Amino acid sequence: MTPCRVLSQCSLFKLNLVKLKLTIIGLGYLGATTAVAFAKLGHEVIGIDPDTSKIELLKQGKLPFYEPGLDSALVEVVEAGNISFSTEHTSTSSSADIHMICVGTPQGPDGSSADTKYLYSALDSLIPFLDEDAVIVGKSTVPVGTAAQIRNYLEAKLSFTPHIAWNPEFLREGTALKDTLEPDRIVIGVDDSWSEKLLRLLYKDITDTGVPFISCDIPTSELVKVAANSFLATKISFINAIAEVAEVAGADTVKLAEAIGYDERIGNKFLRNGIGFGGGCLPKDIRAFMARANELGVGHSVAFLNEVEAINLRRRARVLEIAQEELGDLSNRRVAILGAAFKPETDDIRDSPAIAVAEQFWMAGAHVVVHDPKALNNVRRAFPQIETQPTLELAVSNADLVVVATEWNEYREAKPAELAKLVANRLVIDGRNTLDASLWQQASWQIIALGRNLERIPVLV
Ligand code: UGA
Repeated sequence: MTPCRVLSQCSLFKLNLVKLKLTIIGLGYLGATTAVAFAKLGHEVIGIDPDTSKIELLKQGKLPFYEPGLDSALVEVVEAGNISFSTEHTSTSSSADIHMICVGTPQGPDGSSADTKYLYSALDSLIPFLDEDAVIVGKSTVPVGTAAQIRNYLEAKLSFTPHIAWNPEFLREGTALKDTLEPDRIVIGVDDSWSEKLLRLLYKDITDTGVPFISCDIPTSELVKVAANSFLATKISFINAIAEVAEVAGADTVKLAEAIGYDERIGNKFLRNGIGFGGGCLPKDIRAFMARANELGVGHSVAFLNEVEAINLRRRARVLEIAQEELGDLSNRRVAILGAAFKPETDDIRDSPAIAVAEQFWMAGAHVVVHDPKALNNVRRAFPQIETQPTLELAVSNADLVVVATEWNEYREAKPAELAKLVANRLVIDGRNTLDASLWQQASWQIIALGRNLERIPVLV
């Protein structure tokens, strides 16, 4: 019997005062944040990832990606000795109470369904360290039914029935640590009381602050995550569909979103129109959801997500259309794309609308120059053909067109009068509705913002 399970018999456990021992398997955005968060809560965390360079960095208290606030929290927990990192399980893993699987479930080779191969390789490496008392908790976003498949897979390889639970995560890049430590809710999918007991203990410090704790069956918990992301994607495409109508009707989508957002049933979040959603989650999750629903024979129920995706892709293409309407042939026109990350406060460029826009201009023959405060190294690695510039000023120098593609504060706070002196042509397309249009107009820029009719905005003098 392992040390923690001895404790499980004791009064401390009954009083819910025990800190748990966890392995966190997979140390990407989700796993690294989860590992640091639980270490901060005082649990003993072992982070596991086969990527040697990632583990070396983490051991030194350095993050392999940019995530505000997570860097200092990592240093804190490393110094406190609450966390250790390894490329593989060791005998220490055998005494863990919980093994939390945080590996990626990227889009599979068919271009839609989720690829769960990393899930199975994580389980394969875990099998020698499992016993009857340990609970395997899946955090990765998976097609509904995955936990049941995993159970069958493990039962065929083990001499006992393993405890399996699902615990979807709702953190956003850019605010990952806060979202983990102060979540809107915690959802667990369980089918045995031991798993539920351990998960309640794990989250006790958070639920004690009043955060709702929803315990449900495992398929519901798997479905909650994809339903949430599908809803968010739908909300964004809804406002972008309105933007398409507004552009033709001469209406202003930003005002409209404000007006409908005051209705509490609608809410004002995720109603920012622009070049749409990207990143490693929303786009792939809606595709994987459609693929899984098809497998289950209910593809028609979520077929609207096809339209959600189509609207999303059309808004990316709209920027190029506007540029061609304004400038005609774009061959050799210098176009500064401001922003490469899929949203601000991250260096993540996976399925980034900003990159998609840059590529469309590049394909149209323009001379594309990309700037981003944090993501340029990733851009250079993934798109060596695209020119990057380390400062906003260098990027816009001699530009015929400036496109704001990620709403970084740096762009919102830029001085349009100063930038006006650098460009060849004062034309800016605001793909994220982030600029103060009247300021740019005062500095004699022509500003076009997606979904808005800026000619109606009075220029303040
Ligand atoms: C998303 C979800 O918001 C998280 O709850 C979830 O945990 C995560 O996916 C995941 O599955 O792991 P994230 O990918 O970090 O989080 O990004 P979001 O903040 O959801 O933004 C997604 C995209 O939508 C970005 O490109 C953003 O610019 C765009 N967006 C967002 C809009 O175009 N308009 C809006 O009003 C809001």
